Amino acid sequence: MNRPVLEGLRLNTPAYVRHSRLVEWVAEVAALTEAKDVHWCDGSTAEYDRLCAGLVAAGTFKKLNPELRPNSYLACSSPSDVARVEDRTFICSEKKEDAGPTNNWMAPGEMRELLQTGDKALFRGAMRGRTMYVVPFSMGPLGSPIAHIGVELSDSPYVAVNMKIMTRMGRQVLEVLGADGDFVPCVHTVGAPLEPGQKDVAWPCNTTKYIVHYPETQEIWSYGSGYGGNALLGKKCFALRIASTMGRDQGWLAEHMLILGVTSPEGKKHHVAAAFPSACGKTNFAMLIPPAGLDGWKVTTIGDDIAWIKPGKDGRLHAINPEAGYFGVAPGTNEKTNFNCMASLKRDVIFTNVAMTDAGDVWWEGMTDTPPAHLIDWQGKDWTPAIAKETGAKAAHPNARFTVAATNNPALDPEWDNPAGVPIDAFIFGGRRSTTVPLVTEARNWVEGVYMAATMGSETTAAAAGKQGVVRRDPFAMLPFTGYNMSDYFQHWLDIGQKLETTGAALPKVYCVNWFRKGSDGKFVWPGFGENLRVLKWMLERVQGRAHGTDNLLGVTPNYEDITWKGLDFTPEQFRQVTSMDTAAWKTELGLHAELFQKLAHHLPAELTATKARIEARLAD
Ligand code: OXD
Ligand code: MN
Repeated sequence: MNRPVLEGLRLNTPAYVRHSRLVEWVAEVAALTEAKDVHWCDGSTAEYDRLCAGLVAAGTFKKLNPELRPNSYLACSSPSDVARVEDRTFICSEKKEDAGPTNNWMAPGEMRELLQTGDKALFRGAMRGRTMYVVPFSMGPLGSPIAHIGVELSDSPYVAVNMKIMTRMGRQVLEVLGADGDFVPCVHTVGAPLEPGQKDVAWPCNTTKYIVHYPETQEIWSYGSGYGGNALLGKKCFALRIASTMGRDQGWLAEHMLILGVTSPEGKKHHVAAAFPSACGKTNFAMLIPPAGLDGWKVTTIGDDIAWIKPGKDGRLHAINPEAGYFGVAPGTNEKTNFNCMASLKRDVIFTNVAMTDAGDVWWEGMTDTPPAHLIDWQGKDWTPAIAKETGAKAAHPNARFTVAATNNPALDPEWDNPAGVPIDAFIFGGRRSTTVPLVTEARNWVEGVYMAATMGSETTAAAAGKQGVVRRDPFAMLPFTGYNMSDYFQHWLDIGQKLETTGAALPKVYCVNWFRKGSDGKFVWPGFGENLRVLKWMLERVQGRAHGTDNLLGVTPNYEDITWKGLDFTPEQFRQVTSMDTAAWKTELGLHAELFQKLAHHLPAELTATKARIEARLAD
């Protein structure tokens, strides 16, 4: 520990903190980073308001017009810090093969030298001139047997206030942690130390970025970015990358899945968990409003992004949403595409990288049919429809986000905070594919379901830095989030299925969907959004053994007459366009599965290669 630095630093540890290991660690990180000051977050509203006022004074936040958007703020980031940085994200397991071919890897000793221990280690002095916030948080309902605790140390007040919304954060967490409870240590710095007298910028960050996970010691170290997915360490870093390794070791699942409740007009309720890659409509699906013609159906939200799923004593899988808020993509969201989301965003929101109206409200592409005549865009420049037409400038960044508490959602499921979670009846996996993949397919068994999920492809979106619209394999929508070797992860899914089968309880059914097929005019054929309930209804009737389906190449698919069309004009020809399976396209697709399997050859489960061979044989027929 660096004594001279610590001597001048007060740790400000509140009297209620009883965990000496935690206090020691806070002291160590404060000494390493040379933080100016330490603030322990209690999670109160007064603290949130104070921190937000400080962010306004610093120029990071703009307070929105309280009459139009009460208690809400807008932050605009540096243009270099707008998305997750997958190429700067590392899994530093002891052995390279445990990180697997889909993760960046560096030996933990080497990474520690670079970040923490070397003379020029990046975290050394990284918080100089800044306050270090101690943010205790619970992923999942406080004290739930499915939940786990983390503590994030961050020099970003933007992180502290976002964590208040996104997690159960503050003093009560330390009470659950007690004197010696386990927590995942998470350290974050924007990597922009301030020298005496140096003026801060509105969005401090660094061009060098490292998002680092040590799975064996369950630690997270994040350097150089203030963007949510890189900086709110409870989310992707803990709840997916580290938690997936905890799940592997302890027999449960940490998944990139929304969770929803679906209640039929007869009052029968089911729960489904659905995995889609980033920015493919998970929040919209989680808040779906039944369309005309499906009156009496009700969809309620348990989670919109992440599910932690543990086998229960009843032989079923029970899921919680480890988060307490939504960090969703704003562009494209409007009252027609997601009414419940727009209702959630009426107040108490932190917006990031959307545009500001002259009246002090927010706007983004797709929010209204007619854009306002003038805006200040996410980069602080004047924006008008004419400028946009001429330069193509977007008012909001395509990955602009909102942070809002789950409790703002009018469709929140009453069970969303239940420490026992909800039993899962079906898993849905969906990619964004303009061609090839049909609207919906039911796996004939668990292994086929794992195969479908493992080989899923999707066109890339703005949620990650890099080229957009390119099809990449995104197994289980977990490509950027599995904290260990992908093939071991497939095996873990197979093992969970096998273990559950021995209990005699029904396994959840597995479905593969694609809402994104395009016609020859380049337009989406399936209307999506609320209409997706028609597909969901078919799935749940299948779960109950009540709906018809036809055996097909990959599994069971509905015929036109198996779907309820009341209230929607969707012709058999349109249905054919979204469900057709082209032999040549599937030959190419299976070639891509083969490429994937070649890449993932180390520990690839034999069941998956056997499944592929069976599909190929069927295709050859
Ligand atoms: C997200 C993502 O922010 O998946 O949820 O990128
Ligand atoms: Mn996500």
